[in-house]
Amino acid sequence: MTILVTGGAGFIGSHTIVALQQAGYRVVVLDNLCNSTAAVLDAVAKITSVKPDFVQGDIRNAATLATLFDAYKITAVLHFAGLKAVGESTQKPLAYYDNNVHGSAQLFGAMQQAGVKTLVFSSSATVYGDPQHLPLAEDHPRSAANPYGHTKLVVEDMLENLYHSEAGWRMARLRYFNPVGAHPSGLIGEAPQGVPNNLMPYVAQVATGRRPKVQVYGNDYNTPDGTGVRDYIHVMDLAQGHVQALKYCLQVEQELLTVNLGTGKAYSVLDMIHAFEQASGKTIPYDLVARRPGDIAACWADTALAYQKLGWRAEKGIQEMCNDAWRWETRS
Ligand code: NAD
Ligand code: UFG
Repeated sequence: MTILVTGGAGFIGSHTIVALQQAGYRVVVLDNLCNSTAAVLDAVAKITSVKPDFVQGDIRNAATLATLFDAYKITAVLHFAGLKAVGESTQKPLAYYDNNVHGSAQLFGAMQQAGVKTLVFSSSATVYGDPQHLPLAEDHPRSAANPYGHTKLVVEDMLENLYHSEAGWRMARLRYFNPVGAHPSGLIGEAPQGVPNNLMPYVAQVATGRRPKVQVYGNDYNTPDGTGVRDYIHVMDLAQGHVQALKYCLQVEQELLTVNLGTGKAYSVLDMIHAFEQASGKTIPYDLVARRPGDIAACWADTALAYQKLGWRAEKGIQEMCNDAWRWETRS
């Protein structure tokens, strides 16, 4: 079976390709390389001994999509392509709506044309907004505090509308918590351009000496140590969750499934810094500074539905996340 992976040269897509290939699927990647490089796919091939087919192109380009669906007999699509920086989305909202919403609509239209109705979509725990209660189960009310979050809400809704518009769609909307870590080989990992927005790549760059100190955004939250608490999930566990979601979709007649991919465990910013100190053997200096606007105090997943529906649960803990991220960060 051939699976189309949009955004497959990116962080989560590349790790998921490894898991897909190891589960016996053939992969074709569509990526415009706006936040990645094609070399990632060579690194994937080093791990799996199989180079995925690669089409450099944009999900917003209908002609590219039509050619691709003509050239390959695609069984299902895993849709990762999109822009993901929360801060940037407030500066460039139209770019986010164009890429994430219009791009997704183009892709789903091309799937419909080609008669491909099996889809796994990258949603986010950001759709829960500021949690009213924890852990976050899938029926928690949704809201969005920034344009990026809005695009995820819109695409979730677009899929629901599409699902009800005609029979035969098999879709999984996967709400990721905080993906971190890297493949244990150290050959692929997260490679943010410029200053990292997210905690773990920033911490990793402080550990290597590339940046002087971590800014810890807020120590006055109502959490055990006052710093923000999140559900960090190893990217290889996340990748395996996609394989399970794909298998699930392939065996049902039609369904719109929405599940969290998280660990259900909650760690603070300081917990993560200390775990990274263990992994790297380095002291990681930090300053306690003001809260980052738009941040929530705490967020972690109710994982019961993912286990019930997909038989999947995350297995790797924070030390493994940090060890693997450090191996990637210190690659030669
Ligand atoms: P990433 O930026 O590493 O990967 C996205 C890939 O999509 C990149 O390779 C980029 O070049 C490509 N891309 C972007 N726009 C495209 C377009 N119009 N056409 C073709 N390719 C395009 O991001 P990631 O962390 O791997 O995230 C993957 C998906 O998961 C995104 O949809 C993101 O919103 C979602 N997500 C990520 C996180 C996270 O913390 N990383 C959390 C929740 C959800
Ligand atoms: N943090 C710092 N210093 C930093 C960066 C982050 O203290 O330099 C803190 C934040 O305040 C927060 C925690 O570390 O308490 C995690 O922050 P991240 O930026 O790594 O992640 P977020 O939880 O803010 O958001 C991430 C993705 C979103 C996604 C969400 C899902 O960036 O796209 O996880 O839970 F929606």
